[in-house]
Amino acid sequence: MRPPMSSDAHATTHEHRQALAQPPATLRTHEVTLRGPRLLLRPLTEDDWAPLLAWNNDPEVLAWFEGDEIESCMLDEVQRIYRAISVNAHCFLMELDDKPVGECWLQRMNLQRLLARHPGEDVRRIDIAIGLPALWGQGLGREAVGLLLDFGFRREAVDVIYACVDSGNIRSRRMFASLGFAAGAESNSAAGSIGDAEIDMMLTRPNFEAAG
Ligand SMILES: CC(C)(COP(=O)(O)OP(=O)(O)OC[C@H]1O[C@@H](n2cnc3c(N)ncnc32)[C@H](O)[C@@H]1OP(=O)(O)O)[C@@H](O)C(=O)NCCC(=O)NCCS
Repeated sequence: MRPPMSSDAHATTHEHRQALAQPPATLRTHEVTLRGPRLLLRPLTEDDWAPLLAWNNDPEVLAWFEGDEIESCMLDEVQRIYRAISVNAHCFLMELDDKPVGECWLQRMNLQRLLARHPGEDVRRIDIAIGLPALWGQGLGREAVGLLLDFGFRREAVDVIYACVDSGNIRSRRMFASLGFAAGAESNSAAGSIGDAEIDMMLTRPNFEAAG
């Protein structure tokens, strides 16, 4: 769950505020399906609320997100947030052996401070959660993010992709770093979650292509 944040460090674009204020009645759909060796990433649909609600109410999962003061989330709030995000994102359900195990998205950058660093460029962000903690640390996150990077850089011709990670989230930081993401010039201290600061990790298309 990524609740809207209020500090300057989390100031969002007009489009993203608008989507949160007036989310669509249903998720915006898309036609993109991504396959890896183990995972299938398919479009998130209105049939997926049961796992999303469960994951967004699991304290072990919630603890890793910015705004972890939220301890539980009702269905209507989960729907409001995901429907709003879907306006500006390709949202995916992650399936392992035909079962839902997590969610992720490639979203048009919502944070003003990061857009300001890349005038005129297509800037996006990746957010991801494996909803079943027993599956953490087995390379599934790395596989899913790898699929999103391929989609973003090769098919969408995105210029820059960010991941905004709490400094204390070592697993997530290591996963993004192993895919070529580097910590940006600035980080901020407004997140206040498990770590003290949020780190903006960044990968550019030239760096992605050079690594691939
Ligand atoms: C973050 C998340 C998506 C990562 O996916 P994952 O499948 O667990 O991660 P991977 O196994 O692909 O990679 C994890 C990396 O951390 C390391 N790691 C594994 N367990 C770890 C632990 N307990 N502490 C620190 N590092 C750990 C792994 O060795 C690997 O690093 P390496 O490639 O340098 O060896 C997943 O753990 C998750 O959903 N966590 C909860 C929600 C969350 O934190 N989302 C991200 C918000 S930015």
